[in-house]
Amino acid sequence: MQLHTRLCDQFEIEHPILNAPMGGGDAPAELAAAVSEAGGLGLIGGTTGGGAPWLVEQIRRTRQLTDRPFGVGVISHLPSAGELMAVALDEGVRIIAHSFADPTPFVDTAHAAGALVICQVRTVTDARRAARAGVDVVTAQGTEAGGHTGLVSTFPLVPAVVDAVAPIPTIAAGGIADGRGIAAALMLGAEAVWIGTRFIATTESGVSDGYRAHVVAATADDTVLTDVFDIVTGMPWPDGVSGRAVANPFAARWRGREDELREWAKDHRDEYLALGPEREVDERAIWAGEAASLVTGVESAAEVVHRLVTEATQVLGGRPGDLLRGP
Ligand SMILES: Cc1cc2nc3c(=O)[nH]c(=O)nc-3n(C[C@H](O)[C@H](O)[C@H](O)COP(=O)(O)O)c2cc1C
Repeated sequence: MQLHTRLCDQFEIEHPILNAPMGGGDAPAELAAAVSEAGGLGLIGGTTGGGAPWLVEQIRRTRQLTDRPFGVGVISHLPSAGELMAVALDEGVRIIAHSFADPTPFVDTAHAAGALVICQVRTVTDARRAARAGVDVVTAQGTEAGGHTGLVSTFPLVPAVVDAVAPIPTIAAGGIADGRGIAAALMLGAEAVWIGTRFIATTESGVSDGYRAHVVAATADDTVLTDVFDIVTGMPWPDGVSGRAVANPFAARWRGREDELREWAKDHRDEYLALGPEREVDERAIWAGEAASLVTGVESAAEVVHRLVTEATQVLGGRPGDLLRGP
Protein backbone atom coordinates (compact mmCIF):
# COMPACT_ATOMS: atom_id res chain seq x y z
CA MET A 1 0.00 0.00 0.00
CA GLN A 2 1.20 3.49 -0.79
CA LEU A 3 0.04 6.97 0.13
CA HIS A 4 -1.35 8.64 -2.94
CA THR A 5 -3.19 11.92 -3.56
CA ARG A 6 -4.06 14.10 -6.53
CA LEU A 7 -0.93 16.15 -5.87
CA CYS A 8 1.26 13.09 -6.45
CA ASP A 9 -0.06 13.07 -10.01
CA GLN A 10 0.02 16.85 -10.42
CA PHE A 11 3.64 17.15 -9.26
CA GLU A 12 4.64 13.76 -10.73
CA ILE A 13 5.99 12.54 -7.38
CA GLU A 14 5.63 9.31 -5.38
CA HIS A 15 4.97 10.66 -1.89
CA PRO A 16 2.87 13.72 -0.93
CA ILE A 17 5.71 15.30 1.08
CA LEU A 18 7.44 18.60 0.30
CA ASN A 19 10.28 20.27 2.11
CA ALA A 20 9.53 23.91 2.86
CA PRO A 21 11.40 26.39 0.62
CA MET A 22 13.44 27.74 3.53
CA GLY A 23 15.26 30.93 2.58
CA GLY A 24 18.68 32.25 3.50
CA GLY A 25 20.29 29.12 2.06
CA ASP A 26 18.58 26.84 4.59
CA ALA A 27 16.95 24.75 1.82
CA PRO A 28 19.72 24.53 -0.79
CA ALA A 29 20.15 22.22 -3.79
CA GLU A 30 21.32 19.31 -1.63
CA LEU A 31 18.13 19.29 0.46
CA ALA A 32 15.74 19.80 -2.45
CA ALA A 33 17.48 17.09 -4.51
CA ALA A 34 17.52 14.62 -1.61
CA VAL A 35 13.80 15.10 -0.95
CA SER A 36 12.96 14.72 -4.65
CA GLU A 37 15.25 11.71 -5.03
CA ALA A 38 13.44 10.09 -2.08
CA GLY A 39 10.13 10.50 -3.92
CA GLY A 40 8.88 13.75 -2.37
CA LEU A 41 8.99 17.22 -3.89
CA GLY A 42 12.13 19.19 -3.07
CA LEU A 43 11.83 22.96 -2.97
CA ILE A 44 14.86 25.26 -3.07
CA GLY A 45 14.46 28.29 -0.79
CA GLY A 46 15.09 30.87 -3.49
CA THR A 47 15.39 34.05 -1.40
CA THR A 48 18.91 34.56 -0.09
CA GLY A 49 21.56 37.27 0.04
CA GLY A 50 23.07 35.64 -3.06
CA GLY A 51 20.21 36.72 -5.33
CA ALA A 52 19.75 35.42 -8.87
CA PRO A 53 23.31 34.06 -9.41
CA TRP A 54 23.03 31.92 -6.28
CA LEU A 55 19.65 30.59 -7.36
CA VAL A 56 20.89 29.67 -10.86
CA GLU A 57 23.77 27.75 -9.30
CA GLN A 58 21.40 25.90 -6.94
CA ILE A 59 18.97 24.97 -9.71
CA ARG A 60 21.79 23.61 -11.86
CA ARG A 61 23.26 21.69 -8.93
CA THR A 62 19.85 20.19 -8.09
CA ARG A 63 19.60 18.96 -11.69
CA GLN A 64 22.99 17.29 -11.38
CA LEU A 65 21.79 15.50 -8.25
CA THR A 66 18.35 14.35 -9.41
CA ASP A 67 16.32 13.82 -12.58
CA ARG A 68 13.09 14.16 -10.60
CA PRO A 69 10.81 17.21 -10.38
CA PHE A 70 11.68 19.96 -7.93
CA GLY A 71 10.59 23.55 -7.37
CA VAL A 72 11.70 26.95 -6.16
CA GLY A 73 10.04 29.05 -3.45
CA VAL A 74 10.34 32.82 -3.05
CA ILE A 75 9.37 35.35 -0.42
CA SER A 76 6.98 37.31 -2.56
CA HIS A 77 6.68 40.67 -0.80
CA LEU A 78 10.40 41.34 -1.30
CA PRO A 79 11.51 43.28 -4.39
CA SER A 80 13.62 40.31 -5.54
CA ALA A 81 10.59 38.00 -5.98
CA GLY A 82 9.85 38.77 -9.66
CA GLU A 83 13.48 38.44 -10.73
CA LEU A 84 14.00 35.20 -8.80
CA MET A 85 10.87 33.68 -10.29
CA ALA A 86 11.95 34.76 -13.80
CA VAL A 87 15.35 33.17 -13.28
CA ALA A 88 13.79 29.93 -12.06
CA LEU A 89 11.42 29.83 -15.05
CA ASP A 90 14.30 30.56 -17.47
CA GLU A 91 16.19 27.66 -15.93
CA GLY A 92 13.24 25.40 -16.68
CA VAL A 93 11.81 25.07 -13.15
CA ARG A 94 8.14 24.15 -13.45
CA ILE A 95 6.94 24.47 -9.86
CA ILE A 96 7.09 27.91 -8.23
CA ALA A 97 5.98 28.59 -4.64
CA HIS A 98 5.05 32.07 -3.44
CA SER A 99 4.79 33.01 0.22
CA PHE A 100 3.74 36.01 2.28
CA ALA A 101 2.15 38.24 -0.39
CA ASP A 102 -0.68 38.46 -2.89
CA PRO A 103 0.42 36.07 -5.68
CA THR A 104 -1.67 37.84 -8.36
CA PRO A 105 1.25 39.67 -10.05
CA PHE A 106 3.14 36.41 -10.56
CA VAL A 107 0.59 33.84 -11.69
CA ASP A 108 0.19 34.68 -15.39
CA THR A 109 3.93 34.78 -16.04
CA ALA A 110 4.44 31.41 -14.34
CA HIS A 111 1.52 29.83 -16.21
CA ALA A 112 2.71 31.24 -19.52
CA ALA A 113 5.98 29.40 -18.94
CA GLY A 114 4.06 26.19 -18.21
CA ALA A 115 4.74 26.24 -14.46
CA LEU A 116 2.45 25.33 -11.58
CA VAL A 117 2.06 27.94 -8.83
CA ILE A 118 1.76 27.11 -5.14
CA CYS A 119 0.88 29.89 -2.70
CA GLN A 120 1.45 29.61 1.04
CA VAL A 121 -1.21 31.40 3.15
CA ARG A 122 -1.99 31.88 6.85
CA THR A 123 -5.68 32.86 6.74
CA VAL A 124 -8.82 31.85 4.88
CA THR A 125 -9.03 35.37 3.42
CA ASP A 126 -5.57 35.01 1.91
CA ALA A 127 -6.46 31.52 0.66
CA ARG A 128 -9.48 32.93 -1.18
CA ARG A 129 -7.31 35.69 -2.66
CA ALA A 130 -4.80 33.10 -3.88
CA ALA A 131 -7.61 31.03 -5.42
CA ARG A 132 -8.95 34.13 -7.21
CA ALA A 133 -5.43 34.82 -8.48
CA GLY A 134 -5.52 31.45 -10.21
CA VAL A 135 -2.87 29.53 -8.26
CA ASP A 136 -2.80 25.77 -8.75
CA VAL A 137 -2.20 24.73 -5.13
CA VAL A 138 -2.60 26.47 -1.77
CA THR A 139 -0.43 25.73 1.26
CA ALA A 140 -2.21 26.44 4.56
CA GLN A 141 0.43 27.29 7.15
CA GLY A 142 -0.49 27.14 10.83
CA THR A 143 1.12 29.21 13.55
CA GLU A 144 2.96 26.15 14.89
CA ALA A 145 5.31 26.52 11.92
CA GLY A 146 8.96 27.41 12.16
CA GLY A 147 10.07 30.64 10.53
CA HIS A 148 7.59 33.34 9.52
CA THR A 149 3.96 32.56 10.14
CA GLY A 150 0.59 33.89 11.29
CA LEU A 151 -1.68 33.30 14.26
CA VAL A 152 -4.15 30.55 13.27
CA SER A 153 -3.31 26.95 14.18
CA THR A 154 -2.96 24.17 11.64
CA PHE A 155 -5.95 22.14 12.90
CA PRO A 156 -8.62 24.82 12.32
CA LEU A 157 -6.84 26.44 9.36
CA VAL A 158 -6.35 23.44 7.08
CA PRO A 159 -9.98 22.24 6.81
CA ALA A 160 -11.23 25.82 6.49
CA VAL A 161 -8.80 26.45 3.62
CA VAL A 162 -9.66 23.10 2.02
CA ASP A 163 -13.33 24.17 1.99
CA ALA A 164 -12.58 27.72 0.85
CA VAL A 165 -10.46 26.84 -2.18
CA ALA A 166 -11.87 23.46 -3.33
CA PRO A 167 -11.39 22.01 -5.91
CA ILE A 168 -7.91 23.57 -5.75
CA PRO A 169 -5.79 21.17 -3.67
CA THR A 170 -4.47 22.24 -0.27
CA ILE A 171 -1.13 21.36 1.34
CA ALA A 172 -0.84 21.45 5.13
CA ALA A 173 2.12 23.12 6.86
CA GLY A 174 2.99 23.82 10.47
CA GLY A 175 3.67 21.34 13.24
CA ILE A 176 3.94 18.23 11.05
CA ALA A 177 7.03 16.12 11.70
CA ASP A 178 5.98 12.49 11.86
CA GLY A 179 3.61 9.99 10.26
CA ARG A 180 0.83 10.77 12.71
CA GLY A 181 0.92 14.42 11.67
CA ILE A 182 0.82 13.48 8.01
CA ALA A 183 -2.12 11.13 8.56
CA ALA A 184 -3.97 13.85 10.51
CA ALA A 185 -3.28 16.45 7.81
CA LEU A 186 -4.63 14.12 5.12
CA MET A 187 -7.72 13.45 7.26
CA LEU A 188 -8.25 17.22 7.49
CA GLY A 189 -8.48 17.24 3.71
CA ALA A 190 -4.93 18.24 2.78
CA GLU A 191 -3.40 16.45 -0.19
CA ALA A 192 0.24 16.82 0.84
CA VAL A 193 2.38 18.16 3.67
CA TRP A 194 5.05 20.88 3.57
CA ILE A 195 7.62 20.44 6.28
CA GLY A 196 10.35 22.80 7.51
CA THR A 197 11.45 22.09 11.08
CA ARG A 198 11.94 18.32 10.56
CA PHE A 199 14.00 18.98 7.41
CA ILE A 200 16.14 21.71 8.97
CA ALA A 201 17.60 18.98 11.22
CA THR A 202 18.84 16.91 8.28
CA THR A 203 22.37 16.56 7.00
CA GLU A 204 21.47 18.30 3.72
CA SER A 205 19.97 21.50 5.14
CA GLY A 206 22.06 24.64 4.85
CA VAL A 207 22.34 25.45 8.57
CA SER A 208 25.27 24.98 10.96
CA ASP A 209 25.73 21.97 13.23
CA GLY A 210 25.05 24.24 16.22
CA TYR A 211 21.71 25.27 14.70
CA ARG A 212 20.72 21.62 14.08
CA ALA A 213 21.70 20.66 17.63
CA HIS A 214 19.60 23.50 19.01
CA VAL A 215 16.52 22.33 17.09
CA VAL A 216 17.05 18.74 18.23
CA ALA A 217 17.37 19.87 21.86
CA ALA A 218 14.32 22.18 21.73
CA THR A 219 10.73 21.32 22.54
CA ALA A 220 7.60 23.20 21.43
CA ASP A 221 7.54 25.37 24.54
CA ASP A 222 11.09 26.56 23.83
CA THR A 223 9.89 28.33 20.68
CA VAL A 224 8.70 31.94 20.59
CA LEU A 225 6.73 33.88 17.98
CA THR A 226 8.44 37.25 17.88
CA ASP A 227 9.39 40.28 15.80
CA VAL A 228 12.71 40.94 17.53
CA PHE A 229 14.90 39.22 14.93
CA ASP A 230 13.18 41.05 12.08
CA ILE A 231 13.50 44.38 13.87
CA VAL A 232 17.23 43.97 14.39
CA THR A 233 17.92 42.76 10.84
CA GLY A 234 15.57 45.34 9.29
CA MET A 235 13.79 42.69 7.21
CA PRO A 236 10.23 43.83 6.35
CA TRP A 237 7.24 41.45 6.77
CA PRO A 238 3.53 41.96 6.11
CA ASP A 239 1.19 42.77 9.01
CA GLY A 240 0.22 39.72 10.99
CA VAL A 241 3.43 37.86 10.21
CA SER A 242 6.03 37.21 12.91
CA GLY A 243 8.86 34.68 13.17
CA ARG A 244 8.89 31.49 15.24
CA ALA A 245 12.34 30.63 16.56
CA VAL A 246 13.94 28.79 19.45
CA ALA A 247 14.11 31.23 22.36
CA ASN A 248 17.67 32.41 23.01
CA PRO A 249 19.37 35.15 25.06
CA PHE A 250 18.79 37.77 22.31
CA ALA A 251 15.04 37.06 22.27
CA ALA A 252 14.91 37.06 26.07
CA ARG A 253 16.68 40.44 26.21
CA TRP A 254 14.42 42.25 23.73
CA ARG A 255 10.94 40.69 23.78
CA GLY A 256 8.53 43.26 25.20
CA ARG A 257 11.07 46.04 24.48
CA GLU A 258 10.56 46.19 20.71
CA ASP A 259 10.50 50.02 20.55
CA GLU A 260 13.82 50.21 22.39
CA LEU A 261 15.20 47.55 20.06
CA ARG A 262 14.20 49.66 17.03
CA GLU A 263 16.32 52.50 18.43
CA TRP A 264 19.20 50.17 19.38
CA ALA A 265 19.20 48.59 15.92
CA LYS A 266 19.83 51.97 14.26
CA ASP A 267 23.35 51.96 15.71
CA HIS A 268 24.00 48.23 16.05
CA ARG A 269 22.50 46.53 12.97
CA ASP A 270 25.79 46.18 11.08
CA GLU A 271 27.53 44.85 14.15
CA TYR A 272 24.68 42.35 14.69
CA LEU A 273 24.71 41.19 11.07
CA ALA A 274 28.47 40.63 11.25
CA LEU A 275 28.30 38.39 14.34
CA GLY A 276 30.47 35.30 13.91
CA PRO A 277 29.23 31.72 14.02
CA GLU A 278 30.28 31.32 17.67
CA ARG A 279 27.54 33.80 18.64
CA GLU A 280 24.91 32.34 16.32
CA VAL A 281 22.79 30.30 18.70
CA ASP A 282 22.75 32.97 21.41
CA GLU A 283 22.11 35.99 19.21
CA ARG A 284 20.70 35.01 15.81
CA ALA A 285 17.31 33.55 14.96
CA ILE A 286 17.25 29.75 15.14
CA TRP A 287 14.02 29.49 13.13
CA ALA A 288 12.12 26.36 14.18
CA GLY A 289 8.54 25.43 14.98
CA GLU A 290 6.63 23.64 17.68
CA ALA A 291 7.32 20.34 15.90
CA ALA A 292 10.82 20.62 17.39
CA SER A 293 9.38 18.40 20.14
CA LEU A 294 9.24 15.59 17.57
CA VAL A 295 12.72 16.14 16.17
CA THR A 296 15.03 14.00 18.25
CA GLY A 297 18.04 13.59 16.01
CA VAL A 298 19.75 14.62 12.79
CA GLU A 299 18.97 12.27 9.90
CA SER A 300 19.42 12.39 6.15
CA ALA A 301 16.50 13.87 4.21
CA ALA A 302 15.94 10.48 2.51
CA GLU A 303 15.68 8.77 5.90
CA VAL A 304 13.13 11.36 6.99
CA VAL A 305 10.99 10.97 3.85
CA HIS A 306 11.05 7.17 3.99
CA ARG A 307 10.31 7.00 7.71
CA LEU A 308 7.45 9.51 7.47
CA VAL A 309 5.90 7.62 4.57
CA THR A 310 6.16 4.30 6.43
CA GLU A 311 4.70 5.76 9.63
CA ALA A 312 1.85 7.55 7.86
CA THR A 313 0.97 4.44 5.88
CA GLN A 314 0.89 2.37 9.07
CA VAL A 315 -1.27 4.93 10.89
CA LEU A 316 -3.71 5.23 8.01
CA GLY A 317 -3.76 1.47 7.44
CA GLY A 318 -4.55 0.66 11.05
CA ARG A 319 -6.00 3.36 13.18
CA PRO A 320 -9.10 4.54 11.27
CA GLY A 321 -10.38 0.95 11.20
CA ASP A 322 -9.52 0.45 14.91
CA LEU A 323 -11.67 3.45 15.81
CA LEU A 324 -14.85 2.18 14.18
CA ARG A 325 -17.30 -0.27 15.73
CA GLY A 326 -20.55 -1.71 14.50
CA PRO A 327 -21.89 -2.57 11.06
C1 LIG B 1 14.52 27.67 8.99
C2 LIG B 1 13.23 28.03 8.31
C3 LIG B 1 13.25 28.94 7.26
C4 LIG B 1 12.06 29.24 6.59
N1 LIG B 1 12.12 30.09 5.52
C5 LIG B 1 11.00 30.25 4.77
C6 LIG B 1 11.06 30.97 3.53
O1 LIG B 1 12.08 31.50 3.14
N2 LIG B 1 9.92 31.06 2.80
C7 LIG B 1 8.76 30.46 3.21
O2 LIG B 1 7.78 30.50 2.49
N3 LIG B 1 8.66 29.82 4.38
C8 LIG B 1 9.76 29.68 5.14
N4 LIG B 1 9.67 28.98 6.31
C9 LIG B 1 8.35 28.45 6.74
C10 LIG B 1 8.06 27.16 6.02
O3 LIG B 1 7.72 27.45 4.68
C11 LIG B 1 6.94 26.30 6.60
O4 LIG B 1 5.72 26.96 6.57
C12 LIG B 1 7.17 25.79 7.99
O5 LIG B 1 8.48 25.36 8.20
C13 LIG B 1 6.19 24.63 8.26
O6 LIG B 1 6.11 24.32 9.62
P1 LIG B 1 7.13 23.33 10.37
O7 LIG B 1 8.36 24.15 10.58
O8 LIG B 1 6.40 23.02 11.63
O9 LIG B 1 7.35 22.14 9.50
C14 LIG B 1 10.84 28.66 7.01
C15 LIG B 1 10.84 27.76 8.07
C16 LIG B 1 12.01 27.43 8.73
C17 LIG B 1 11.96 26.43 9.85
